[in-house]
Parts: sequence; C-alpha cells; structure tokens
Amino acid sequence: MNTTATRRYHVAPVARVGVSGTISVPGDKSISHRALMLGAVSDGITRITGFLDSADCRATLIALRALGVRIEQPDAHTVVVHGVGSTGLRAGSGTLDMGNAGTAMRLFMGLLCGQDFASTLVGDASLMKRPMERVAAPLRLMGARIDTPDGRPPVMVHGGAQLVGIDYQLPMASAQVKSAILLATLRASGITRVTEPAPTRDHTERMLRQLGATVTRRGATVELAGGQRLRGGPVDVPGDFSSAAFFIVAGCLAAAKGLTVRRVGVNPTRTGLLDALRLMGARITVTPAEDAGAEPRADISCYASELKGAVIPPALVPLAIDELPVLFIAAACASGVTVITGASELRVKESDRLAVMAEGMQALGVQCELMADGIRIQGGALRGGRVASHGDHRVAMSFAIASTRAEGPIEIDDVENVGTSFPGFVAVARQIGLQVTEQAAP
Ligand code: S3P
Repeated sequence: MNTTATRRYHVAPVARVGVSGTISVPGDKSISHRALMLGAVSDGITRITGFLDSADCRATLIALRALGVRIEQPDAHTVVVHGVGSTGLRAGSGTLDMGNAGTAMRLFMGLLCGQDFASTLVGDASLMKRPMERVAAPLRLMGARIDTPDGRPPVMVHGGAQLVGIDYQLPMASAQVKSAILLATLRASGITRVTEPAPTRDHTERMLRQLGATVTRRGATVELAGGQRLRGGPVDVPGDFSSAAFFIVAGCLAAAKGLTVRRVGVNPTRTGLLDALRLMGARITVTPAEDAGAEPRADISCYASELKGAVIPPALVPLAIDELPVLFIAAACASGVTVITGASELRVKESDRLAVMAEGMQALGVQCELMADGIRIQGGALRGGRVASHGDHRVAMSFAIASTRAEGPIEIDDVENVGTSFPGFVAVARQIGLQVTEQAAP
C-alpha cells in the first residue's frame, strides 16, 4: 500500500464551459465487500457482477483467499466466490492486510471472531490509526477474545470462542459496527438485537436476506437469530452512490444542460446528499430502474442551480457520511452560510475530514469555522491554489470538483488512494469536461 505522496492532480478551472454528459460510475464499495464476505461463508456459489475492482475490495478478496476460499475473477467486474459455508474458513498463514480499508477490517473482525483459529489484522498508516475498540467491545460481549493495542490495529482476533447473541445499543451511528455484530451472530447461539441511534446503511441486512437469512427490523432495532446458514446466489452490485456524489455536485454547480449518472444505487440509507442539496436549492431528478432487486438503483440527473447556504439537519449526516466532503464544496460555492453539525464521525475516517477539508478550503480562500462536531462554511468565490489531501481519496476527489467554480488551477497532492474506491476517476471526470490530469509529484 502506498504511503508516500508521489502522485498529484492538476485541475484547470472549467467555470466558463461547465460540465455535461451521461456517465456511469464503478460498483458500490460497501456492497462489494459484503458480497465477497457473505458469499465466502455461504453454501454454494455467489456470482458477483458489477464488482468494484478497487484496492479496498481487493484487500478483502485477497484476505478471503488466504482464509481458504476459492475466488475466481473472470473479468475485472465479475467475481465468482465458491462459498465454504459457516465452518469452512481456514487459518491464513500470516497477518491479513486490509490496506486502507476500514470496512474490511471491521467486518472481518465480526466474521473471524467466532472461528476456531486466530487471525491478526493490519493495514496502511491511515488504517493503523483508526479506532477499532468500537467493534471489539460489542464482540467481546458476545464472548469473542480480541486485543487492540491502544484501541487501534493491529487487531488480534483469538479463535475458539463460543459466541452468544447480544442486545446492543450502538453508541454511535455506524454501519460497520452494526455489520460486524451481525456477521459474528452467524456463528453465535441465541438472538442478537442491535439498536441504532440513527439509521445507517443497511446493505448487510439486505444481503443476508437475499442469501436466505431471516432478519427483522422493529423501529431502530435489527434482529438476527444466530446460526442461520446462507445460500450463495447472484449478487448484482449497483453503481456506488458515494462515487456518483462527486458528479452529482459537479452537475448542480455547473451543468447548464444537465448531467446524468446512470444506474446508481439509491438505497435510502445512502442518499442523504440528495436531500441536503435539494435543501440548498438544487435541481435533481431521480428516475428509478424497474429491475431493482435487493438494492434499488436509478438514473440521477442534476442541473446547474443557484445553491443557497442551509442548516443541514443532523439526521441527514449518517445518510450522507461519505458525501460530506463534497457537500462542503457545494456549500463553499453556494451563496450564504451552510452549517453542518452532528458530524464528529468525520474526524475518524481515512483522515480527520473536518480538519483536512477546512484546511483545503481555506487554501482556496473559503472562510470556514471548525466545530468539534461540524463546520460552518461561508459560501463565495473560490480561487485556485494547492491542497493537501492527506492521502484521503474522498478529499482528493472533492477538491477536483471545486474546479467547476474555481478562478484558477488547483493542485491536489497525494492522490494515489483514489484507487481505493474509484479506479478510473480521472477518466470519468474528463468525460464530463473536468480538466483533471494526474502527474508524478515533482
Ligand atoms: C461503511 C460505513 C461507514 C462509511 C464507510 C463504509 C460500510 O462507516 O463511512 O465508508 O460499508 O459499512 P461507519 O460505519 O464508520 O460510519
């Protein structure tokens, strides 16, 4: 995994010409990770189409192969997982490297803590700093034995635990923690109930059902009985809403004739960005596809709009958690002030996204004020400048979108991790008219 800053983007302003076109984006990262993991512990074959062939998902795929699962990849976006059932995983020969992928590490903690062998999970410099106790604590309540020095990786998962279901109130809105508990429950006796403080993405629940498990939801509580077996089957992954988000914002800022992103996943636990942008005055239309399956998908069209600053309701934050960096760019280009609170989770993502986005926006002349759990952004003109992405893929891509309004070129450092979630970002950006070039850093 790259930890040195060797690549950067040079992004020329396109404010005069704008953006346009019809594009599609690669498969959903959250769903791709889950399809690999749940397919691996199912009986029979899971054929994944629309798979996201990114560094993060490859980390999950390689780790599962190391755990004895046969996985074929006949082409970049098709993966065939030969499920080994709930008792078929085998000890890997070394540590399992999750790279930059927080989702992989946290979900593997749940998947592995009920196995009869030990595993050690590591990652790149960013992942080694991220909190893992939030997952280890509920898994320990289930009977798992897990060590996290300082609460961070390396995560040592000791095998041989007999797990029991728990009633657990999540202290923070986190789909990763919820999913890890549900995955552990597959190897537990009894019933698990997880209650969320606010709705978070429900891809794990949907896929468990798709593969034959009974999962019930009552209000804010998800219930899963332990020991259920899964049956492999076809999983078609929609385009990643979080990748589409960059172009949705670009369209709202600069597509006079409209811009359409095709066949994007529009699971309502993911689309808070659309509500936030509409609150700011954006013109967006969503045309649902008829053949939706377990995960709804739609064509999303957006049109250049006079965005106005808004107070974003905190309830939207978990539904837009990965899209907030690019929402900040929309806010920086809006008239008036935008206030986002209830977003302290942003501080423990691939970077401290509140601090890193504030630093980058200030470098482009945007006035903003950080709070412990949010940010206040004064919209206005953006000048060109140089921005550090701190190795965070979503920060890098967000600042590329700022070129729809910036008055001068933007240099974005340290962009190699864009490939963790969006391989081919530069090509799609150029397709809509953005002038992004990737260069070796001098
Ligand atoms: C994810 C959940 C979110 C999100 C991450 C992917 C998932 O993290 O930020 O990119 O696939 O479950 P949290 O659970 O930490 O909010």
